[in-house]
Amino acid sequence: MSNLTEILKMLEEVVRAPLYSVVGISGDKLVFMTNEEGVESLWYYDFTRRKTEKLCKDIYGVASVVKDSPYIIFTRDVSKGRELQQVFVININNKKEFKFENFTPKRIFSIDYNGELIALSAVSEKGIGLWIGKPFSELEKVYETDKIMIVYDLSKDYVVGYGVLKGNPKSYELFFFNLNTNEFETYTPKEGSVNKMPVIHNHKVLFVTSAFNGKNMLKIVDVETKELSDPKFTYSDYTKYNIADYVSLDWTEDGKAWFIGKFNGMAKAFIDGKEVPTPEGFVSYLTIRDNMVYITYSSFKRPHCIYEVNLKTGEGKVLLGHKLSEKIISRIGDIKFIKYKSFDGLEIPAFIIESKAARKPGPTVIYVHGGPWAEVANSWSTFITSLVVSGFHVVAPNFRGSTGYGEEFRKLDIGDPGGGDLQDVVYAAKWALKEKLASKVAIMGYSYGGYMTYLATVKYPDLWSAGVAGAGIVDWEEMYELSDNLFKQFINVLFANKKELLKDRSPITYIENLKAPICIIHPQNDTRTPLKPVLKYISKLLELGKCFEVHIIPDIGHAITKMEDALNILLPAILFLKKRLK
Ligand code: 4NP
Repeated sequence: MSNLTEILKMLEEVVRAPLYSVVGISGDKLVFMTNEEGVESLWYYDFTRRKTEKLCKDIYGVASVVKDSPYIIFTRDVSKGRELQQVFVININNKKEFKFENFTPKRIFSIDYNGELIALSAVSEKGIGLWIGKPFSELEKVYETDKIMIVYDLSKDYVVGYGVLKGNPKSYELFFFNLNTNEFETYTPKEGSVNKMPVIHNHKVLFVTSAFNGKNMLKIVDVETKELSDPKFTYSDYTKYNIADYVSLDWTEDGKAWFIGKFNGMAKAFIDGKEVPTPEGFVSYLTIRDNMVYITYSSFKRPHCIYEVNLKTGEGKVLLGHKLSEKIISRIGDIKFIKYKSFDGLEIPAFIIESKAARKPGPTVIYVHGGPWAEVANSWSTFITSLVVSGFHVVAPNFRGSTGYGEEFRKLDIGDPGGGDLQDVVYAAKWALKEKLASKVAIMGYSYGGYMTYLATVKYPDLWSAGVAGAGIVDWEEMYELSDNLFKQFINVLFANKKELLKDRSPITYIENLKAPICIIHPQNDTRTPLKPVLKYISKLLELGKCFEVHIIPDIGHAITKMEDALNILLPAILFLKKRLK
């Protein structure tokens, strides 16, 4: 067994592993994001000089980078984590920054740039708005709705995107906003289907749809005639894989398409239908330069890096990335992808990451991801690796509602959060005990995972030895009142407008039942899962004489953007688990 100092050292190494991700190509430069200096920053790799250089730091979001434009459009949180953002432009050649002074900081949740125009969707006074503007001018609101609306791409003539545009919580429709006439058009190939991620080239919109057999597939629609067609690929490598969902996609310069497909917790890229060879793991984005492709790649053992593949030879290598030390790697044990049966027989996919620093059976953490429309895949997770190197086996269930396993599976938690999904998490713990992986189980998660932690520990109090709830939800009714227009809509969709469920699915309703010690970690300035209801929960825990500890992290919000923030969250979590799962 290792002592605490040693564990803390390793934890720091995992948290401080720098991450790299591809943004795109501008001129002869590969633009990328990295937290190498502790905060998210924009950098570039100069192909001619074969050197990297920093552009600017403290970045929140970044729009697509365009080959022929020297301008990079990005946002910064100007509210200490409250996610109110300002929009900036930087010239890659002289690093001069411009700020859109007249734009009042807002929650911006998508932004794009086509080399000329910027389009973004953000929370507005009445709901959700669409803003358009050019670098060095002003951003102007051109459309507003009370529905969730996400900008995804824009061409010379159209802004395209998707959202819950008809108010049906189980469907997404596309929208086409005509920049010449300012007309906003909602489009679906079939009422009630899920349509997402539209990318436009000339008048052709490539998108992901569940309209045809309930499964996610790619289709093309002509934005003017609405004629539907199937994308044609020269190669058919992708058909070997059972692709259940898509991570990203785009048109290539010559009008072919590339996409990244997901299957069983992995993801691979395909250009014109041909597989881009990458090691086992998860590919999330790419950009193409002649015969070379630059890919954001990671796995449980490899922090996000930029992987370069020569399309002619098929050879690949890490261009920019961090390799974990042997000491860390040697503590990561077997990694398995399994499916277990839940209460109703539904098969739940999960990753099991064993720790070589734990006995078997040994202390095990059921790690519940956030979202809830997200997943644990074979990709880098600071949280999971930190737990494993600290001596815990990890079971990470992709409970119903998770992405990556098709639309039918994803939609199963709509109208039932804290219902079937909670059962799936409980069955993951039972699986770990039955399979003799776990001697004791704790539950841990952040955001929706923090919610699951609170709920699991009060609804199944005897199952858990401990719980760690990060940025969790304890009271949906109060949270709804404190939410902005985007998150109010988000909650409406998640609960399928069943307002009467808000109380029933709130951990605070069952707080008396809590038995296990609980570690509460919460960002002070969180505007997605606000601290206020959690303070009430803490007060009640005190009145009831429950065992708990609390760590409120000042000056940060919901998004963990700095290495320091991650340490502030993970340090108390690991120390608590070490004590409680002994
Ligand atoms: P997440 O956070 O798990 O990080 O996506 C959430 C924030 C808000 C809500 C759910 C999850 N919500 O329902 O409002």
